[in-house]
Amino acid sequence: MKVVERLSSVLNLPAGYRLFRRIVGGESVWRIYLAEYVKPAPGDRTLDLGCGPADVLDFLPAVNYTGLDISPQYIEAAKKRYGSRGRFLCGDVGVATLEAERGNFDLVLATGVLHHLDDAQVTRLFDLARRVLRPTGRLITFDGCYVPRQSRVARWLLARDRGKFVRSEGDYLGLASAHFAKVEPYLRHDLLRVPYTHLILRCSNPVSAGDQQSHGGPEL
Ligand SMILES: C[S@@+](CC[C@H](N)C(=O)[O-])C[C@H]1O[C@@H](n2cnc3c(N)ncnc32)[C@H](O)[C@@H]1O
Repeated sequence: MKVVERLSSVLNLPAGYRLFRRIVGGESVWRIYLAEYVKPAPGDRTLDLGCGPADVLDFLPAVNYTGLDISPQYIEAAKKRYGSRGRFLCGDVGVATLEAERGNFDLVLATGVLHHLDDAQVTRLFDLARRVLRPTGRLITFDGCYVPRQSRVARWLLARDRGKFVRSEGDYLGLASAHFAKVEPYLRHDLLRVPYTHLILRCSNPVSAGDQQSHGGPEL
């Protein structure tokens, strides 16, 4: 088995994935990502799409957490480790409708997920996020990204990612903008101990004063 394939099968194990993240990034990646971009508040109703083993729970305040992932292994590990801290659902973001959760969430996360999905699946993820978010809610995404004049090491690593759909900033933005009126992109080249580029998107559909009144304003 080739080295890349062997690494990929180790990463499919929750413990292997956790160890790898610790080696290339450490806890500071979570801390910077959450403090500077996600800005979670205690009590936020949070949906984590492609949650993996739900490691983010080690760094989140006491939010109301639901994690969804396609991997039964990751979901089992999340339940074992964080059972009482949230709900953990096994399912495909491209198929899940979460119909009962319409307009329920303040925050949707898709951390390291878009680059695992083809354009049709990403479209369904954005569609799902938009439906389950409250009018004032936001979706935050975080993925590896190709940019011009990037370090060759970063490009080499991105090309060998387990996710087969690492995109350029423009391609990620194009997909997000089809579903969200406001998309704020942030490029970071400094989050890992190895050369790498991440793109973080903050996506929302800003509500006008009139909309706010009809959704949350006092009833007259
Ligand atoms: C790089 S991992 C990120 C995990 C987690 N968000 C984190 O940051 O630790 C990508 C995750 O997306 C999940 N995933 C990939 N395709 C998916 C799909 N179609 N539906 C739900 N989850 C998916 C994988 O199982 C994996 O847990």
